[in-house]
Amino acid sequence: MRSYGRIKSRTLKPAQAVLFDTLLPTIAIPVDGPLDPRALMPGAKAAWLEIGFGGGEHMAQQAARHPDTVILGCEPFLNGVGSALRHIDQGGLTNVRLHAGDARPVLERLPDESLERVFVLFPDPWPKARHQKRRLVQAETLSEFVRVLKPGGRFRFVTDWKDYAAWTLERALREPGLRWLADEADDWRVAPADHITTRYEEKRLGDTAPIFLEFERP
Ligand SMILES: C[S@@+](CC[C@H](N)C(=O)[O-])C[C@H]1O[C@@H](n2cnc3c(N)ncnc32)[C@H](O)[C@@H]1O
Repeated sequence: MRSYGRIKSRTLKPAQAVLFDTLLPTIAIPVDGPLDPRALMPGAKAAWLEIGFGGGEHMAQQAARHPDTVILGCEPFLNGVGSALRHIDQGGLTNVRLHAGDARPVLERLPDESLERVFVLFPDPWPKARHQKRRLVQAETLSEFVRVLKPGGRFRFVTDWKDYAAWTLERALREPGLRWLADEADDWRVAPADHITTRYEEKRLGDTAPIFLEFERP
């Protein structure tokens, strides 16, 4: 089931189209076979996954702040991939690896306990009841996150849709492999210190201020 909408909306800018042919093949996540994130960047001290990176602003800035971490980014929206390639190129970033498609087949190929962090930031909300089965967060996705996270690893989920926050919290609290790290309201109302505002976040399209849910794999 598709969890995303359009994969293309406008023609790629010429410079981005060039990066699809030149940069992307050098940093693309292999499309089949076992996937050891550290083999994608020998010497990496940690591996993170960002699902649905949109224009790639958060992913690129985190990569710049954490040069020893390899960040795997997945996004089927091709204009978003083009924008991310531009950020990676302009920032001279060498620690990002991309999959221009659905994250879930990549997730399935990751070994157990291979990631320190997973980010799902402002996923498509699918607010209508009949579309909720398309939401990226389902019990199965959460158990996959638990499988690929190392003990002590973290999963960050952010949305500006009340119902999606409640949906995710309900499922995460039922998942024995995740512990919600909030002690008080400000822990989910205030952005974590290392959060980077995303392009979608700035649009304020949801029905609430952003809600930040941070979980740990105990
Ligand atoms: C609302 S946008 C938010 C983008 C970005 N995280 C931001 O905050 O600006 C959600 C993104 O998730 C992507 N997406 C949806 N399902 C996905 C999936 N299964 N794998 C990877 N990306 C997905 C969509 O293509 C879309 O770009």
